[in-house]
Amino acid sequence: MRVTQVIYPKDLGFILLLSDVGPGSRVIEGGVGTGFMTAVLAKYVGGEGRVYAYELNKDYIEIAHRNLKVVGLDSRVTFRNKDIREEVEDSNIDSAILDIPDPWNALNSLIKALRPSATVLSFLPTINQVEKLVVHAQATKAFTDVKAYEILLREFEVKKDAVRPKSRMVGHTGYVVFMRFLKA
Ligand SMILES: C[S@@+](CC[C@H](N)C(=O)[O-])C[C@H]1O[C@@H](n2cnc3c(N)ncnc32)[C@H](O)[C@@H]1O
Repeated sequence: MRVTQVIYPKDLGFILLLSDVGPGSRVIEGGVGTGFMTAVLAKYVGGEGRVYAYELNKDYIEIAHRNLKVVGLDSRVTFRNKDIREEVEDSNIDSAILDIPDPWNALNSLIKALRPSATVLSFLPTINQVEKLVVHAQATKAFTDVKAYEILLREFEVKKDAVRPKSRMVGHTGYVVFMRFLKA
């Protein structure tokens, strides 16, 4: 069941690669929504890793939990019905993935949870949010390698002697901001 906008695979794949999440990783997710990203993270952390998934809306947690159960990955996720901007109760975190409207307000709580060199990735629909997050991150002096990206993906129509991009494409989903945690 889908109750919120989800991150498209083209962005999700890029986020996952930059995050360096893999078997055994301890990951924080900010903004669970439908739980699509949660499921992908749960798959990649494997049986030894853990996803700590923060979500404001209790109903969304129930739906995401059900979705995770359907794909058999619920045992790898700890859902926290909390505002990630207020408090993060987990520690020694390898990566944080955020899909919330104001991620700059979550940086201070995350700083206490991240291990040195941890990655932070944020998915943002508008360029105004990108600017705000990057400016805030740089001001903290706790992050390095702060970068912003947009992924454009073209699908091709392939017929014999007539190969070309499809006329229609997804014009816009959002931007991805990457940063690496240095120290508090
Ligand atoms: C777009 S949805 C996330 C979708 C998810 N990334 C996916 O792929 O299925 C954003 C979610 O963030 C939650 N949210 C917004 N601000 C939050 C905060 N400060 N702490 C925790 N969750 C938050 C909203 O309730 C909403 O469910």
